Amino acid sequence: MSTPAPEDRKDTMVESAAGESEAAAAEKRGPSVATRERRQASINPSGETPYLVVEDLAVKFPTADGVVSAVNGLSYSVPLGRTLAIVGESGSGKSVSSMAVMGLHDRKRTRITGSIRLGGDEIVGLPESELMKIRGDAVAMVFQDPQSSLHPLYTVGNQITEAYRVHHKVSKDTAKKRALEMLDLVGIPNPQRRFSQYPHEFSGGMRQRAMIAMGLVNDPKLVIADEPTTALDVTVQAQILDLLNNLQKEFGSAIVLITHDLGVVAEMADDVLVMYAGRCVEYGTAEDVLANPRMPYTWGLLESIPTVSAANERLRPIKGLPPSLLNLPDGCSFNPRCPYKDRVKGERCTTDLPELLPVDGAGAHTARCHLHDKATIYTAEVAPRLS
Ligand SMILES: Nc1ncnc2c1ncn2[C@@H]1O[C@H](COP(=O)(O)OP(=O)(O)OP(=O)(O)O)[C@@H](O)[C@H]1O
Ligand code: SF4
Ligand SMILES: [Mg+2]
Repeated sequence: MSTPAPEDRKDTMVESAAGESEAAAAEKRGPSVATRERRQASINPSGETPYLVVEDLAVKFPTADGVVSAVNGLSYSVPLGRTLAIVGESGSGKSVSSMAVMGLHDRKRTRITGSIRLGGDEIVGLPESELMKIRGDAVAMVFQDPQSSLHPLYTVGNQITEAYRVHHKVSKDTAKKRALEMLDLVGIPNPQRRFSQYPHEFSGGMRQRAMIAMGLVNDPKLVIADEPTTALDVTVQAQILDLLNNLQKEFGSAIVLITHDLGVVAEMADDVLVMYAGRCVEYGTAEDVLANPRMPYTWGLLESIPTVSAANERLRPIKGLPPSLLNLPDGCSFNPRCPYKDRVKGERCTTDLPELLPVDGAGAHTARCHLHDKATIYTAEVAPRLS
């Protein structure tokens, strides 16, 4: 029987009433040097100095039905000027993990453990007053639905101006000048007129641009964009993605892009992290993960993308549904849906949680799967279906 990943082992202990004191002791001891080194190597695919470092993050919600383990043992990093895409099906923990980076969870109803460092500073456990200083300044979030993020009763210009003034002691006129600059920068025509309009007077694409203007008004070092284009039609989607790309060049920010659209990932991402049932199951550069995926769940995601050549063929969605986060299956969380589990000797897929390990025995591309011949299976069976 293989040993669970250290991060998962720690989680299990935290949840076990009997293991409470052992967990506390492990917590105090911290991970071994070897574990730390392995994690450091595996959470930084680019090798550049990261601005955001997430290590061993767990987010749990105690509910009347039990503890929802929304995020487990999640580690990744993002350097300035680089884009990490987090992908996975609905409910895999993409938004919950990113909200933790923004410090947006209700601390009375949420248990957060692990480490989130921004420019070297730890933010897990910071008081709300400190988090408020970081939000909108060093870190900004662009949400899927600008309609619900922009206040309907204030003009767009007013909201951008106030977002700037929260973090800068400047006059209203100076802040207005900055807001107009931002409206212009995000491609909103006639900023002077648009400044005084209300969100409902903007189209969906324009509202998203306004949201981005508000997010970037303070030159954040990190932008978290949660499904920023899902509600938009394809043409506007491409424009908004271009805009994010250009703004990243201009501001040099790190971007975490949350999406379930692998087309968007291919277009935008430098690095890719695939999440399933709250855990990272594959992580590496976009080239590694998209061109040489090594985890059956990633294969399933890639196979379920509609392609032009497959227009007349049936789509291949991943069969079944993600597991309940109240009661994750033993072993690999993907095992109830995995078409390859019979190729693993014995019962390991249903008994042992696979570790996130380098796919080639070394390097920064990691995957969580017991299969020994992943490369062969991918090349011989999966890749031909993708072409
Ligand atoms: N406050 C909460 N209390 C209990 N469970 C929660 C809470 N917030 C989120 N969850 C659960 O955590 C899981 C992860 O949610 P999350 O919003 O991160 O999913 P997601 O990957 O962003 O999905 P989507 O693509 O649909 O946005 C879901 O099962 C969700 O129901
Ligand atoms: S560990 Fe087993 S069940 Fe999980 S993805 Fe690999 S083959 Fe499938
Ligand atoms: Mg989400």
